[in-house]
Amino acid sequence: MKVLRSILEMRQALQSYRTDSSSIGLVPTMGALHEGHLSLLSQSLQNNQVTVCSIFVNPIQFNNPEDLKKYPRDEKKDFELLEKAGCDMVFVPSSHEMYQDDSAAIKMNFGEIENVLEGKFRPGHFSGVGVVVSKLFNIVQPDKAYFGQKDLQQLAVIKQMVKALNFPIEVHAVPIMREDNGLAMSSRNQRLNEEERETASVLYKSMLLMKSALNEGSSIETAKQKATEMLAKNNNIDLEYMELVDADTMEIFENTTSKNALSICAAAYISGVRIIDNLYIH
Ligand code: PAJ
Repeated sequence: MKVLRSILEMRQALQSYRTDSSSIGLVPTMGALHEGHLSLLSQSLQNNQVTVCSIFVNPIQFNNPEDLKKYPRDEKKDFELLEKAGCDMVFVPSSHEMYQDDSAAIKMNFGEIENVLEGKFRPGHFSGVGVVVSKLFNIVQPDKAYFGQKDLQQLAVIKQMVKALNFPIEVHAVPIMREDNGLAMSSRNQRLNEEERETASVLYKSMLLMKSALNEGSSIETAKQKATEMLAKNNNIDLEYMELVDADTMEIFENTTSKNALSICAAAYISGVRIIDNLYIH
């Protein structure tokens, strides 16, 4: 596996692959890799001649400095996992390499979608994601890029951005990978001990309860109440939001009569660690 640390090296390494017949896949990550990331990687490896995984803890998407400071980092272990999975190239730029040109000052505004859920609770987050993903798209110029449904709103924002800015890139969505207890895999889970991970899994269980209540015909309000009652039994979970939304636009739904795909999206704190999750309603 080739390790590339500069933009120039990255571009040069890909030069011979820029032909009509070969396809380049990109998997953007912030490292502390787990099976969720590896499932994105495996999709890319299956469908492209060459796969680039990027690892960059992007400072401009963190609205909370403490979260940035505590974000888990383990380059050695990440490289081992990538190598074992058969990744061709890993792009690991420094903050200086990415933002020396002052592009950190650029802001992106995605409109309505930023007024809800993650956009509402993490001001500036999607601007930071939009800027870094645009830069990665321009540096790597992939044919296909892979994103997880774990971050459903991020996926919607990126699809919107690709369309609006005419990036010639296919965006592929990959389903959520979960622990055995249902907890959605996340790099931030490394900051939780075993007991806290068990507690964290109650978020998913409460979403399942809300889903089954909705499917049995309960109103959104009643279904949500059942979920919040389950969460309230656990002193260590602090729910930030749980909403039923249109899975493409993230618009919050007040009734379940929509023809579009709907999803329950939630965020909660467990021992100061923020986790997010979502679940499709069919
Ligand atoms: P990160 O949180 O490292 O996630 C990288 C990719 O892995 C994202 O597309 C995310 O949705 C996906 N992913 C994370 N956990 C997953 C799981 N349990 N199952 C499936 N996919 C999962 O998301 C980011 O980094 C950053 O915002 C980034 C897009 C790299 C821009 O900085």
